[in-house]
Amino acid sequence: MKTILPFLIGFILAFGAVVAISQPWNPAVYQPIAFNHKKHAVEQDLPCNFCHEYVEEAYFAGLPSVEICLNCHDSPITDSPEEEKIRQHAQRGAEIRWKKVYRVPDHVYFSHRRHVTIAGIACTRCHGAIAESERPPVRPVIFPSMENCINCHRQRKVTTNCNACHK
Ligand code: HEC
Ligand code: HEC
Ligand code: HEC
Ligand code: HEC
Ligand code: HEC
Repeated sequence: MKTILPFLIGFILAFGAVVAISQPWNPAVYQPIAFNHKKHAVEQDLPCNFCHEYVEEAYFAGLPSVEICLNCHDSPITDSPEEEKIRQHAQRGAEIRWKKVYRVPDHVYFSHRRHVTIAGIACTRCHGAIAESERPPVRPVIFPSMENCINCHRQRKVTTNCNACHK
C-alpha cells in the first residue's frame, strides 16, 4: 500500500487537473473558420446586426450566412487560408456551420428583441467584449445562468416569476 499510495495520489491529481481543464459540464466549442470580430466589428466598423440579422426583431440573433461574408470576400482580399475557406464553402454550395456558444436549455424562454430593442441593454452586458476579440470564443465569457438572469431582473424590478422564463 505504501508504495502504491504516491502513484494513487498522483493519478487522482492528474485526473482532477484534466477534468478541471476540459470542463466536461461546459464543453469547448470550435468554429469552422477562425473569425476575427475585432477586424470586422471595430476596424471595418460593421454593426452587429449586419451579421446577427435578427437580433433587434426576433428572440434569436442569428449567425451569418455565407452570402453575408461574400459581400466582401467574393474574391481574395488577404492571403489568409481561413478567408479562402469562405469561397470553398460557397463553391460547394454549403453554409458555414457556425456553432452556438451561448445557449439556454429548451425549457427557458429568452428574447433578444425584448432585451436589446425594448430594454436597451448593451450586447456587452451579456456577451462581454466580444467586439474586441480576435478569435472565436470557445466558451461563454459570461455564462447565461439562471442566477445571472434573476440578478438583473431583481435590480431592474422585472418579474422573477418562474413561468415568465420557463415554458
Ligand atoms: C462580419 C460579421 C459579424 C459582425 C459584424 C459581428 N459578428 Fe458576431 N459573430 C460572427 C460570426 C461568424 C460568429 C461565429 C464565430 C465566432 O464565434 O466568432 C459570431 C459569433 C458571435 C457571438 C457568439 C454567439 C454564439 O453563441 O455562438 C456573439 C455573442 C457575437 N458574435 C456578438 C457580436 C456583437 C456584439 C457584434 C457587434 C459588436 C458582432 N457580433 C458583430 C460574425 C459577426
Ligand atoms: C464589409 C466587408 C466584410 C464582410 C461583410 C466580411 N469581411 Fe472578412 N474581412 C474584411 C476585410 C476588409 C478584411 C481584411 C482585414 C485586415 O486584414 O485588416 C477581412 C478579413 C477576413 C479574414 C482574414 C483575416 C483574419 O485574420 O481574420 C477572414 C478569415 C474573414 N475576413 C472572414 C469573414 C467571414 C467569415 C465573414 C462573414 C461572416 C466576413 N469575413 C465578412 C471585410 C469583410
Ligand atoms: C440580456 C442578455 C443578452 C443581451 C443584452 C444580448 N444577448 Fe445575445 N444571447 C443571450 C443569450 C441568453 C443567448 C442564448 C439564447 C438561446 O440559446 O436561445 C444569446 C445568444 C446570442 C447569439 C447566438 C446565436 C443565436 O441566435 O442565439 C448571438 C450571435 C448573440 N446572442 C448576439 C447578440 C448581440 C449582437 C447582442 C446585442 C445587439 C446581444 N446578443 C445581446 C443573451 C443576451
Ligand atoms: C442586464 C439585465 C437583464 C438580464 C441579464 C436578463 N434580463 Fe430579462 N429582462 C430585463 C428587462 C429590463 C426586461 C423588461 C423588458 C421590457 O420592458 O419589456 C426583461 C424581460 C424579460 C422577460 C419578459 C418578462 C415579462 O414581463 O413577461 C423574460 C421572459 C426575460 N426577461 C428572460 C430572461 C432570461 C431567460 C435571462 C437570462 C438568460 C434574462 N432575461 C436576463 C433585463 C434583463
Ligand atoms: C429570469 C429568468 C428565470 C426565472 C425567473 C427563473 N428561471 Fe429557472 N432557469 C433560468 C435559466 C436561464 C436556466 C438555465 C441555466 C443553466 O443552463 O444553467 C434555468 C434553470 C432552471 C432549472 C434547472 C433545470 C436544468 O436544466 O438543469 C430549474 C429547476 C429552474 N430553473 C427552476 C426555476 C424555478 C422554480 C423558478 C421560480 C422560482 C425559476 N426557475 C425562475 C431562468 C429563469
